[in-house]
Amino acid sequence: MSEGIRVAAVDEIDEGEAVVVDAETAGTDDDISVFHSEGRFYALNDTCTHEEASLAEGWIEDGEVECPVHSARFCLRDGKALCLPATVNARTHRVAVVDGEVFLYPGEPPAE
Ligand code: FES
Repeated sequence: MSEGIRVAAVDEIDEGEAVVVDAETAGTDDDISVFHSEGRFYALNDTCTHEEASLAEGWIEDGEVECPVHSARFCLRDGKALCLPATVNARTHRVAVVDGEVFLYPGEPPAE
């Protein structure tokens, strides 16, 4: 298990908001968005799987994010593409809250 990247304090990411960890920091080929929804935190690759759009700028509600460009929706828990025009699932990453801080583990599968 890799060392996590500190993203923010829990109270720095409001419900229904997301912050972006850039690809260079994450060591991944895409930026990663860390979402706060329904009191939990989730991480997905930031770029929509349909075209070029930042999912962090989408509408976040009920454990889903809606792309701001063509309104595809993705499940924050497993990255599943829930409706057209997206047909490819979003990549997920593990997030953990430790002592009131949100940590991201790029490339690791989310905890159940
Ligand atoms: S870019 Fe996201 S649905 Fe088209």
